Amino acid sequence: MTESDSDDRLVELLQDARSDELETVINYQANAIALSGVEAQEIADSLAEDVGEELGHAEEIGERISVLGGEPRGSYAIEMSQEALQPPEKATDQLSVVEGVIEAESDAVSTYQDLVEAADEAGDPVTEDLATELLADEEAHLAEFEGFREGLLDE
Ligand SMILES: [Fe+2]
Ligand SMILES: [Fe+2]
Repeated sequence: MTESDSDDRLVELLQDARSDELETVINYQANAIALSGVEAQEIADSLAEDVGEELGHAEEIGERISVLGGEPRGSYAIEMSQEALQPPEKATDQLSVVEGVIEAESDAVSTYQDLVEAADEAGDPVTEDLATELLADEEAHLAEFEGFREGLLDE
């Protein structure tokens, strides 16, 4: 691969990661609102807090895309597909929300693992550092929601 091919591949991975972050912002906010007031305040609050973090991720990734010569996508160019994160039919269904979040966070963990590897192969330590930092955040989100799942299953 030439240097610009590997840059293009990194930008593509960054674009997809940013699209996922922005879709997550929409769905975490919708689920946080749906869950608030149904004895799920802790989960609702955690999701509301993550909305800000995921939005920050999208911004950092967008800035990196720009430095690498790309342009962050607008909404027409973003495909959305997080089926498991659509708000539940019954607002009381905390477990289905928590499982949707676990699926989204697991996807994010594997996205950033792939990006760490691709950035390393491309010899781009700045993108690699960014992907490592985002990976750590998503692993923490994943662990938190796995804890919520255990708590709900123990009830
Ligand atoms: Fe994120
Ligand atoms: Fe996350």
